[in-house]
Amino acid sequence: MDNLEQLVSEAESAIAACQDLRALDEARVRYLGKKGVITEQLKSLGRLSPEERPKTGQRINDAKQRVAAMLDERKAVLEAAELQKALASETVDVTLPGRGELPGGLHPSMRIMDRISDLFRGMGFGIETGPEIEDEFHNFDALNFKPDHPARADMDTFYLERKENGKPLLLRTHTSPVQIRAMRARGAPIRIVALGRTYRHDYDVTHTPMFHQVEGLLVDRGVSMAHLRGILTTFMQRFFERDDLTLRFRPSYFPFVEPGAEVDISCLFCEAKGCRVCKHTGWIEVLGCGMVHPNVLKAVDIDPEEFSGWAFGMGVERLGMLRYGINDIRMNYENDLRFLRQFR
Ligand code: PHE
Repeated sequence: MDNLEQLVSEAESAIAACQDLRALDEARVRYLGKKGVITEQLKSLGRLSPEERPKTGQRINDAKQRVAAMLDERKAVLEAAELQKALASETVDVTLPGRGELPGGLHPSMRIMDRISDLFRGMGFGIETGPEIEDEFHNFDALNFKPDHPARADMDTFYLERKENGKPLLLRTHTSPVQIRAMRARGAPIRIVALGRTYRHDYDVTHTPMFHQVEGLLVDRGVSMAHLRGILTTFMQRFFERDDLTLRFRPSYFPFVEPGAEVDISCLFCEAKGCRVCKHTGWIEVLGCGMVHPNVLKAVDIDPEEFSGWAFGMGVERLGMLRYGINDIRMNYENDLRFLRQFR
């Protein structure tokens, strides 16, 4: 066997030994590439005599084609094998159960707020918003909190480290500052509700550091507490879907109203016979309210001789707990899906 035949048979076993397309490509370069062994042979033709050249050239070309054919054949085999492997490893087992898609749902507090705003919109109230980071002016001063009044401390306020114009910033402790912003922006008459997050340093079965409130405000000529009673009664009856629900007003103190009251609803669970929820009183406390204090109207340039109004504030989670029968407010914010999924 001469040199050329030796090369071809060497190439044959090298090609047969290639286990993947990369190795095969390397073999192609080694034999047929620009500097490949068979290509080198063609370059040596120049040294031969003119008579020998055509015959040897023909033999080399022949060898080149045989090696090329072997490479193609092996390539087809390897490609088929790779396809088989991919098909085997990428098969879809159609008998497996589906992974399922869990549809998201609204948080119970969101559902309650949607319900509350729907009911008030139905009675002609506009929806108002305000910032959660407030200053002392909107959260306290303009609401007639005196600088040294204990009500300021009662609120368990979270103060920010950052100040604005040298004045402290805080997380609003109630939605009442929205009253101030709305009246300053729009004056009187005005009829709004504001819903949103509020913050207090407090944590037990009925308190979380973040919670939601709804604020109601109506200012116009000749507005009295009778209007407040009417609106709140209608709202509570619709909210709890109970026409027999009644309200009780108890005198109470908030710096920004005069007179001020706390409102109880007749117990939803025991028909006034007395149960654990109403602590055997037949009444459940749900909100604070009152006639807007003249000092508050003055702080926003509304003439208290011409206008009067009322405001109320209530806890969204509190209403939600009563409507859904939740007995620990903290469940709302523990992200336990077993709890949250019930409201989807
Ligand atoms: N802002 C009061 C609170 O959070 C509630 C309230 C609002 C009372 C409006 C009277 C009038 O406790």
